[in-house]
Formats: sequence, C-alpha cells, structure tokens
Amino acid sequence: MSCRVAVLISGSGSNLQALLDAAAQEDAPFSVTAVVSNKADAYGLTRAEQAGVPTSVVNHRDYSSRETFDHALIEEIDKCKPDLVVLAGFMRILTPDFVRHYNGRLINIHPSLLPKYQGLHTHKRALEAGDKEHGVTVHFVTEELDGGPPIVQAIVPVKEGDTPELLAKRVQVQEHIIYPMAVTWFAQQRLQMADDRVQLDGELLPHHGVQVSA
Ligand code: GAR
Repeated sequence: MSCRVAVLISGSGSNLQALLDAAAQEDAPFSVTAVVSNKADAYGLTRAEQAGVPTSVVNHRDYSSRETFDHALIEEIDKCKPDLVVLAGFMRILTPDFVRHYNGRLINIHPSLLPKYQGLHTHKRALEAGDKEHGVTVHFVTEELDGGPPIVQAIVPVKEGDTPELLAKRVQVQEHIIYPMAVTWFAQQRLQMADDRVQLDGELLPHHGVQVSA
C-alpha cells in the first residue's frame, strides 16, 4: 500500500512540487494525501489544488499560544492518517508535544549543511563565513530546533561572486532532488530513526547522513 504523506508548507511550495511530481510517477511508493499551510496565501496551496490534493489552512494567528496552534495542526493533519509528515518550508517552530506525536515519522529540509547554520539566513551566513561549500540537509525532526539527525545532505560549491540569492537557487536545485529521494526511502521502509540515529537499509548512517555532491 502506498505510504500516505502529509506536507506542511508556509510559502512557495517548490519542494512540495518536487514531491507531487515524484508521487505522480508510475510505481511511486508514496502519495501526497494532504497539504496543510499556516498561511492562506501560500502559493503551494495552488500547486496542491492543481494536483488534486486536499488542502487546508490552520492560521497560527487564530490561536493564542504555540500549544493550541500545534494541537489544532495535529487534529487537521491526522484527518488524513499520514504515515509520514513532511515539513517543506513550514516556517513555524513546533512544540515538543507536536514533535513527540510524530516521533520517527516527521522530517524537515533545512538549507545548510547541518549542524552548521541552524535557524535563518543560512545562505548569507555561509557567504559571510567564506565557506567554499554549502548545501542542504533532510533530517528527522527531534525536539532540538534544526537538530535532528541528518538523512541526506547535498553539498553545493560556493562560487566567486555568489550572492545569497544565487546560492539559494543552486541549493534549491538539490533540495528538489534529495527531498523526494528521502521520502521514497521512507516509503520503501528502508529508513528509520532509532535513538536519535538514522538507519538506511539496516545500516547506521554517519552523523551527516548520506552525502551527495552537486
Ligand atoms: C526551502 O529552501 C527550504 O530549504 C527552506 O524554506 C524553503 C522553502 O521553499 N526551509 C527552511 O528554511 C526551514 N528552516 P519552498 O516553499 O519553495 O519549498
């Protein structure tokens, strides 16, 4: 049976699009069964509608605390009974209760080579540090913000004259490759998190996960 994936977004949804495209392939082991946004004007909602995927909005501004927002979010997500919850540019900090509820079946994509540059403005920070390499990480989500164990990282060269925007574009090309890859592994039941470490095909991955180079 196909793995049921719920995708959470806040914006453009280009990673969501990569997942929708992968799910539309013949023999895809997963399907996107719901898209939930905290913003009503997120373009990703249009992408989901065009692909015939049910959408909903849970606006964080309608809730007085992170706890009540996350509770409403869980209720909405669980309507589609997902096997996996995928954060794809979902720009809210999640509560420990939320993370525990989806323990081992919640993944995120973060635009840096974690553990470097947790938080925001990752491309700018990599350029300011003079890094020769930058990249993106898909990781399991734990209670530590941007701190869960990496599944896969794509390494991208930093080029002479790069701006944060140019670098972000180069990184995003890789995002759209490695996110569907990680979701496919999970859907094929090849990927697990145990004791904050990641196993792929029964083998413990190194701390940086699988690394691929652009
Ligand atoms: C992506 O670049 C993703 O790496 C980043 O938000 C962007 C969403 O783009 N995520 C984070 O910064 C999470 N901390 P998209 O809406 O086009 O997929």
